[in-house]
Amino acid sequence: MLPASETARLSLRRRTIADFEACLAMDRDPEVVKYIPGPWDDATKHEAFLRERIQADFGDGLGYWSIYSRDAERRFLGWILLIPYDGTGPKVEIGWRLNRSAWGRGYGTEAALPFVSYAFEDIGLPEIVADIDIRNVASHRIAEKIGMQHVGDIVHDSIPMKSYALTRYDWR
Ligand SMILES: CC(C)(COP(=O)(O)OP(=O)(O)OC[C@H]1O[C@@H](n2cnc3c(N)ncnc32)[C@H](O)[C@@H]1OP(=O)(O)O)[C@@H](O)C(=O)NCCC(=O)NCCS
Repeated sequence: MLPASETARLSLRRRTIADFEACLAMDRDPEVVKYIPGPWDDATKHEAFLRERIQADFGDGLGYWSIYSRDAERRFLGWILLIPYDGTGPKVEIGWRLNRSAWGRGYGTEAALPFVSYAFEDIGLPEIVADIDIRNVASHRIAEKIGMQHVGDIVHDSIPMKSYALTRYDWR
């Protein structure tokens, strides 16, 4: 399906440096990064982090995909990631981030779903995982709606999180 694909309302494409400013603006909304550890308060570190993440090679079939609306405006709405867990792996994590103006319309779930079949069928991963701040209810719901199971609890950067996982076996 990838590097480019479409859902009913969304266009999904490999994230490139052309999305740099849009991603930066999205992360600068404190509500967007409220439950996500990162260098958001330091402009220089934030820009370096984002540039590195856009340019990194995460391995075969992995990376970030930008989400755009398919309407006439073709707006940047956010991204989906499928990258080595914590940057190192060997597990692969799935993640999602949208501009606040795009929340609450089912876009997050709609964008994430094709990546589940992509992860298992196209690149043959055995499992996908996600750690989510216990307060991030919308994100928990996306994980559940795409079939992930709550498999444990961890503390990451002093933040209590729920760990989710979905294996290819259970997905079938
Ligand atoms: C998490 C995020 C991607 C959700 O995107 P979204 O497009 O609003 O999600 P959806 O519309 O697909 O909704 C998914 C589910 O969550 C529910 N939901 C959405 N916002 C919610 C909220 N604030 N509180 C409770 N439930 C919420 C929806 O009702 C839906 O469940 P339902 O189908 O049972 O009704 C979005 O809020 C976001 O980008 N947040 C900031 C970044 C972030 O936290 N990313 C995840 C890090 S782990």
